[in-house]
Amino acid sequence: MNQNELFDQVCADLRCQGFSVRPNAVPLELCKSLFAHAKQVDLKSAGVGRGSQKTLNEHIRGDSISWIEEQAGAEGQWLDFAAELQLQVNRQLFLGLFSFESHFAIYRPGAFYKKHVDSFKGQANRVLSVVAYLSPDWSESDGGQLVLYSDTQPDVEIARVEPRMGTLAVFLSEDFPHEVLPAQKDRCSIAGWYRVNTSQSGRIDPPR
Ligand code: OGA
Ligand code: MN
Repeated sequence: MNQNELFDQVCADLRCQGFSVRPNAVPLELCKSLFAHAKQVDLKSAGVGRGSQKTLNEHIRGDSISWIEEQAGAEGQWLDFAAELQLQVNRQLFLGLFSFESHFAIYRPGAFYKKHVDSFKGQANRVLSVVAYLSPDWSESDGGQLVLYSDTQPDVEIARVEPRMGTLAVFLSEDFPHEVLPAQKDRCSIAGWYRVNTSQSGRIDPPR
């Protein structure tokens, strides 16, 4: 399947079920470069905040992250990949995706991300979530699965994704509560979000 066909499939999945899980979607060589890169970047605890707020956040998520800004190399290729997906989604689904932000994330053994939604209805910011998995040799017993829950029945599981190198998960940010189960070994990924343009009266909504 070439990239056009892949993104066609993603759009078809989104249209009929609101999410898409595609193994071997991100080119292998790109995954390997991104994985090598992720191990070198300066990661910061995502459970940010101070004092009790920080402790609270660490009970919700235990990953460490680094935002992707670089336009060159593997990160640039990732941003190109994401931009191409944005174009195709906008052409086929008219979502009006306007900007993209993404970060590397590493979950150390024991780290998880409790059930959450990426965007709240009506706030119209994050519209589409995308996760690219980068860990090689992942087996079911390594944990770290992404679990998606139903929009209408948040206790009902609708998909479980193994975070294997090359797999791409895409879902509507407002619709699906989801969680990351505790990982047993280092779990490496890129999480990203497309936003619509919410600029008003000349004020440009900062990308994040
Ligand atoms: C997130 C998230 C899912 C994953 O970063 O908001 O839900 O599988 N990530 O890494
Ligand atoms: Mn999320």
